[in-house]
Amino acid sequence: MITRSIAAALGLAVLLSGPGARAEAPDYKGFRVCTKCHDAQGDSWKKTAHARAFESLMAGAKADAKRKAGLDPAADYTADANCVGCHATGHGKPGGYRIGMEADEARVLAGVGCESCHGPGGRYRDLHGAASDRLKSAGDTSPRAPLAEAGQNFDYEQACAACHLNFPGSGWAAAKPPHSPFTPRLDAKYTHDFRRAVLAGDRNNPVHLHFRLRGVFKGDPLPAIRGEVQAGAREAED
Ligand code: HEC
Ligand code: HEC
Ligand code: HEC
Ligand code: HEC
Repeated sequence: MITRSIAAALGLAVLLSGPGARAEAPDYKGFRVCTKCHDAQGDSWKKTAHARAFESLMAGAKADAKRKAGLDPAADYTADANCVGCHATGHGKPGGYRIGMEADEARVLAGVGCESCHGPGGRYRDLHGAASDRLKSAGDTSPRAPLAEAGQNFDYEQACAACHLNFPGSGWAAAKPPHSPFTPRLDAKYTHDFRRAVLAGDRNNPVHLHFRLRGVFKGDPLPAIRGEVQAGAREAED
């Protein structure tokens, strides 16, 4: 068998890290690797219901809502596979949340973190820093396509749908169990409205406040909603 170092010496690195490596799913890393550079979004996200979503699974939390949904308010749902998929980050995927994992590791994956919407960061996070350096040192912008190839998600509607529209009759074709117990049939306030949520623009933005991008990346896949989001974005303080 050819080891990676021998392959590299033979100039086969491109082959081995090419299509084969891409088939392997990138790892989830937890929110802290992102907030290291994106602390403005991190501070805002921490105040959202998404950041605290795991706590809702604890015994006694949100008792009225649970009762209304036919759940047991006294039960601990934090180790229930029917719940953690939507209340933690990357459950059951490489590097993602695992039931029974060490509390220390779990801390950065409990709740709906950055990677629940932006995709597992194991490969694309390094590209962000490198591209920023390239802009600073050579004035060059970088193509966005390699980010998508490295696992960054730009189809936010689909990401939201996987949790918010995962119930029968939602109109989302990919719905499959375990379904969300909190649907518009239970209460109209659980109706999912992507645009209203992402463009909320105020302190109650359920995603996070949006900050002006410098334009380090260019080209497709540019999210359709980017222009509108950036039009209302604020300057990040350095
Ligand atoms: C080493 C620093 C660094 C790390 C780590 C990092 N980023 Fe970034 N990220 C950047 C920079 C710099 C940009 C370009 C910002 C700009 O254009 O002004 C960027 C851009 C982005 C963008 C916009 C990309 C686009 O389409 O233009 C998103 C979304 C993003 N980062 C999310 C994340 C997430 C989620 C993580 C964690 C998995 C992460 N970043 C980790 C530095 C980083
Ligand atoms: C991994 C699953 C998951 C993803 C992905 C996800 N959400 Fe959520 N969302 C939740 C959960 C769980 C809650 C409830 C949190 C709680 O109170 O425990 C929630 C709550 C919300 C709320 C209510 C917030 C509040 O303050 O009451 C809105 C609005 C929302 N999400 C919008 C979105 C949008 C828009 C997207 C996509 C850009 C998205 N969500 C992606 C799981 C998800
Ligand atoms: C398919 C994804 C999904 C699964 C599975 C799921 N949830 Fe949720 N849960 C959500 C979403 C999305 C919301 C937010 C709904 C909203 O505010 O619009 C939510 C909200 C909640 C809330 C807060 C409701 C409120 O009114 O504040 C509780 C509590 C909760 N879920 C508990 C659970 C429990 C317990 C389980 C397992 C039995 C579970 N969830 C399984 C997606 C899911
Ligand atoms: C519930 C989904 C969701 C979560 C969780 C989330 N984001 Fe975002 N994020 C979005 C959406 C939607 C946009 C706006 C679309 C765009 O411009 O790409 C966005 C935009 C961004 C941008 C572009 C600049 C801006 O402020 O709009 C960065 C950088 C970013 N997110 C980083 C993060 C980091 C870091 C975290 C975790 C601390 C995080 N996001 C958590 C959905 C999410």
